[in-house]
Amino acid sequence: MTNIVVLTGAGISAESGLGTFRDEGGLWARHRIEDVATPEGFARDPELVHRFYNARREQAAKATPNAAHLALAELEKRLSGDLLIVTQNVDSLHEKAGSTAVLHMHGKLAGALCGACDHRWDAPLLMQPTDLCPACHAPATRPDVVWFGEIPYGMATIAEALSKADVFVSIGTSGEVYPAANFVAEADHFGAHTIELNLEPSTGASRFAECRFGPATEVVPAWVREELER
Ligand code: OAD
Repeated sequence: MTNIVVLTGAGISAESGLGTFRDEGGLWARHRIEDVATPEGFARDPELVHRFYNARREQAAKATPNAAHLALAELEKRLSGDLLIVTQNVDSLHEKAGSTAVLHMHGKLAGALCGACDHRWDAPLLMQPTDLCPACHAPATRPDVVWFGEIPYGMATIAEALSKADVFVSIGTSGEVYPAANFVAEADHFGAHTIELNLEPSTGASRFAECRFGPATEVVPAWVREELER
């Protein structure tokens, strides 16, 4: 029995054609975080924020999972033990690949949230500021994504899983954003073996017991094969 917690970031979806945030030409080089990823930005210009997420939702809907997502889905099926994927990604590529234990700590593009009553429902492909909440009818519809200054989802579940993990693997994330950047320290504290799989060393690479660098479609299937042969 091996319990594994996998943290994923934008790098795992890069080879599916979805852009990362902080690489050269990434999303945060082209858009200001304050404008499109904060509650204040949304209050100032909801039209702009909906346009930003509508474009990302359309792009994500067309994307298909790559070999890294598929390998993790295979791991979930064949592992004797629990596997939880904690993803910072708002795309649904883990689910499209067949993974079922997926926690979207930064929310998802496929979700809509009412800013007035907290009701949640499936997002249409295109959302706009005049959309009404189906429950309370307020025109307060927003994407169900977590913005800077808001608390990520599932923190208690994640803490519990990290405390029981034998292995913690971080895939395709720069380690720039907290609290996710601190999961390696939590897992290590509880005795897990910690592994980074990334294109290049992340900000926190020295905090991992083991690092393997390369494209996710190569390093993730290779690691999964080893884990299943153990
Ligand atoms: P980043 O853009 O910060 O980091 C992406 C990481 O993936 C970098 O370390 C790249 O080297 C790596 N990478 C790029 N291509 C890769 C490939 N083909 N295979 C493997 N690794 C690759 O994205 P995140 O770490 O996910 O939050 O960003 C974390 C959070 O910051 C996001 O969830 C988002 C963002 O602001 C919110 O919007 C709240």
